Amino acid sequence: MKITKCLFPAAGYGTRFLPATKAIPKEMLPVLTKPLLQYGVEEAISAGLSTMAIVTGRGKRAIEDHFDRSYELENQIDGTSKEQLMDGIRNIINTCTFSYTRQVEMKGLGHAILTGETLVGEEAFAVVLADDLCDCEEKSVLSQMIEVYEKYQCSIVAVEEVPKSETKKYGVIAGDFLTDDIVRVNDMVEKPEPKDAPSNLAIIGRYILTPDIFDILRDTKPGKGGEIQITDALLEQAKQGKVIAYKFKGKRFDCGSVDGFVQATNYFYNKEK
Ligand code: UTP
Repeated sequence: MKITKCLFPAAGYGTRFLPATKAIPKEMLPVLTKPLLQYGVEEAISAGLSTMAIVTGRGKRAIEDHFDRSYELENQIDGTSKEQLMDGIRNIINTCTFSYTRQVEMKGLGHAILTGETLVGEEAFAVVLADDLCDCEEKSVLSQMIEVYEKYQCSIVAVEEVPKSETKKYGVIAGDFLTDDIVRVNDMVEKPEPKDAPSNLAIIGRYILTPDIFDILRDTKPGKGGEIQITDALLEQAKQGKVIAYKFKGKRFDCGSVDGFVQATNYFYNKEK
């Protein structure tokens, strides 16, 4: 079955960006003039997805307002030179469907994904963490992953090589290389110390998940940091040979950290000027 839905877990507190994220969702912080979440939605559209399912939380209403019409504003700028600045977001609103649910307690990424079950239902779906901002020359990361999914028909995680000293920021995988960039995963560890990391292949914020992940997540106990971890649930699928890690082609910026956010801003500024 074709993948049509993209889930955006966007309920986290974004504490690394306080005080900016006290009243503004982290996902709405702009790189140049566009909020992180809009980049994520554009990536999903580029991969042929049209239903955006967003897991929000308290204080995140700006997200819903962003992906909706603003008649007053449009009235103000209609016919002026500023009108074209709204073309991108207008197009998104006209071509996609948005649905929302709220995570009431922030119990981790795995829990946020499980909260999205009501929006996703019984079909394979994509997951984008908007704070991982990606830029690719040809196909977007999600487009590349959907091609891999079409071949292997199981969960797919995007991975990149990171310095060993940084493994404790990521879920890290190990497995058998099927090609230069495709690995059948047989082990996954959440945020390992460098000495315990099974490789230097770190999972980034792009997933394709098969819907059996929800039943697994329901039974997943809190792991690292007391949070329900998607890595722990994926390990259950991996034990059955049902997870592929894909070394995507492109650049990724960790915009959940101040350093990554500044790098992304400089990169897109230089690219677009
Ligand atoms: P992060 O751990 O990077 O986000 O979660 P955070 O907790 O908001 O950030 P810091 O560490 O406090 O600065 C990765 C993604 O998972 C979502 C976040 O919104 C982010 O997109 N998330 C995390 C949830 O939706 N719910 C959670 O309970 C946890």
